Amino acid sequence: MFARVLAVANRKGGTGKSTVAVNLAAELGARGYHVLVADLDPQGHAGLGFGIEMPDASRTIHAAFRDEQVELAGAICATSEPGVDLIAADRNFDGRILLSDPRCLARAIAPIKPNYDVVPTRLAAGGRQSYRLRPARLGGRAGANRTRLSCT
Ligand SMILES: Nc1ncnc2c1ncn2[C@@H]1O[C@H](COP(=O)(O)OP(=O)(O)OP(=O)(O)O)[C@@H](O)[C@H]1O
Ligand SMILES: [Mg+2]
Repeated sequence: MFARVLAVANRKGGTGKSTVAVNLAAELGARGYHVLVADLDPQGHAGLGFGIEMPDASRTIHAAFRDEQVELAGAICATSEPGVDLIAADRNFDGRILLSDPRCLARAIAPIKPNYDVVPTRLAAGGRQSYRLRPARLGGRAGANRTRLSCT
């Protein structure tokens, strides 16, 4: 089964997006899910949350946006949290490619999605980035109450 991709997004800065992404991933990992955190914010705070400070710029999620040949599997780092892997952000990513290729995220993670249950992606605040994502839903049984993470 393919991974469910969750976007943690809010245009306003400092509202807990990175904190939610890191802690949600750790909790899901502890519950037995195989989780990949894709840190889309060039500030790299989700990476920092897992102790990854200075990623190699050629081994980041943003490198895969620019170059379809990048082997994203080689950029995945294991974290100290059970079940949680991370792809770090490029600190110099300027967001320009998103204007011409808004589906670059979906394309970049497509080859590795089958290896995971959940992929929480942490989007940057501000108006420069415009990933084409639908609101995600968390929850289990049909008919059960569900928590909605808005992507707008
Ligand atoms: N539930 C919470 N209770 C108290 N403080 C929190 C909570 N969630 C996050 N914080 C704190 O709020 C601050 C901002 O959180 P965070 O960095 O996750 O926000 P952000 O939306 O990712 O910011 P940015 O837009 O800069 O990426 C941090 O200092 C964090 O520790
Ligand atoms: Mg943040």
